[in-house]
Amino acid sequence: MQLTFPENFWWGAATSGPQSEGRFHKPHANVFDYWYDTTPTDFHNFVGPNTASDFYHSFRADIKLMKQVGLNTVRTSIQWTRLIDDFETASLNPDGVRFYNEVIDEFITNGITPIINLHHFDLPVELYQQYGGWESKHVTDLYAKYAEQCFRLFGDRVKNWFTFNEPMVIVEGQYLHQFHYPKIVDGKKAVQVAYNLALASAKAIAKYRGLTENNDGKIGTILNLTPAYAASDEPADQEAARIAELWTNKLFLYPAILGHFPEELVELLTKDQVIWESTPEEAELIKHNTIDQLGVNYYHPFRVQRPDISPDSLMDWMPNKYFADYDLPGRVMNVDKGWEIYPQALYDIALNIRDEYHNIPWFVSENGMGVSREERYLNEQGMIDDQYRIKFMKDHLTWLHKGIEAGSNCFGYHVWTPIDCWSWANAYRNRYGLIRNDIRTQTKTIKASGHWLAETSKQNGFTI
Ligand code: BG6
Repeated sequence: MQLTFPENFWWGAATSGPQSEGRFHKPHANVFDYWYDTTPTDFHNFVGPNTASDFYHSFRADIKLMKQVGLNTVRTSIQWTRLIDDFETASLNPDGVRFYNEVIDEFITNGITPIINLHHFDLPVELYQQYGGWESKHVTDLYAKYAEQCFRLFGDRVKNWFTFNEPMVIVEGQYLHQFHYPKIVDGKKAVQVAYNLALASAKAIAKYRGLTENNDGKIGTILNLTPAYAASDEPADQEAARIAELWTNKLFLYPAILGHFPEELVELLTKDQVIWESTPEEAELIKHNTIDQLGVNYYHPFRVQRPDISPDSLMDWMPNKYFADYDLPGRVMNVDKGWEIYPQALYDIALNIRDEYHNIPWFVSENGMGVSREERYLNEQGMIDDQYRIKFMKDHLTWLHKGIEAGSNCFGYHVWTPIDCWSWANAYRNRYGLIRNDIRTQTKTIKASGHWLAETSKQNGFTI
């Protein structure tokens, strides 16, 4: 059976500035640059962001490879720490402007539509040191100024903007679960940061809408959605899933699409005395600056059960006091990465967006399979024969297709990632690319999955 996708479907892939460019000629360090400079031992094999996949120098050749694997759209991000010289005034760095202009033009010359994101975890470290980063409302204003510069500079050619990638990862990584610098555990700050990120997104959208030129495109945000599935039908597990869904998904979906925060979550955070500081003016701003389109990063489901300790236990405030992870016996796993593989969730996400979020236009902005020691799969021709990745994509696309047939307004599918790239503290442990990168030589070669995607994009579908 042939699965055909909607006309003009985005067959694409996503990366980010800090993960691909390398630090060359950047006027500032972001929090990851600083973390690596101060604690390189926190990074897999001590590999940091200095070179990444060298996109700064090799973007023309890289984009040609992206073309060869059939991508009609590619997402990357602008680095605040590259484009801007003075964060307070958002004055421009000439080399940063030149670089992003050339990258955008090169994509367009190659027939690839550039999709531009403005923030991929890469807060300038000075703003953390001076103001506490996203804990500060002033930083949300500085971010909006930077965003406006991007719209003015590149909006004549970039028609699809995204304000943030996975704001929840900033909240959890930096303020709850200690996997990103500064590795704080502080529930109250985490909640304020979540609010401030939603506010910052709305402020950037307001800037976009306020421009008289270059605002004829679309703007959205990118959320990592992990549907919460209860371990059983028992009320305690169902309640755990309800709260997990509120925290992990609705916290950002609601303000971005519906223009307000979920009331049940606000009540819970108020009862727990960790609710954010907000003003009626900010509520108005959020209400009037919702997104045009949504990006959904989906990797794995979130299976939850009732917590094994009481919420009244003595502990720092953590959302997880209301739910605990659940390992479904017999689940399909990517053991390398430690994530369950559950393609059907894309169908559930599709229907949820259709039914609960006005059927807003959306696309899968990241989906992919991270595999370690991928040289295991080099064949005699020197190609990574990643049949597991092809299967992963096919399975997810099959469920996505069912969601589209059921009326969900999905217009694209982006793989993480075009070329193996540097991934924060995991560095190059997990390879996700359609194109292999030998990081010792920066030699880039197409994997079997890249050839498969080229054909799929050409056919606008595939046979199952
Ligand atoms: C996504 C992020 O959530 O996961 C990417 O947006 C990241 O930036 C990707 O690289 C894969 O992460 P990891 O840790 O498996 O390499």
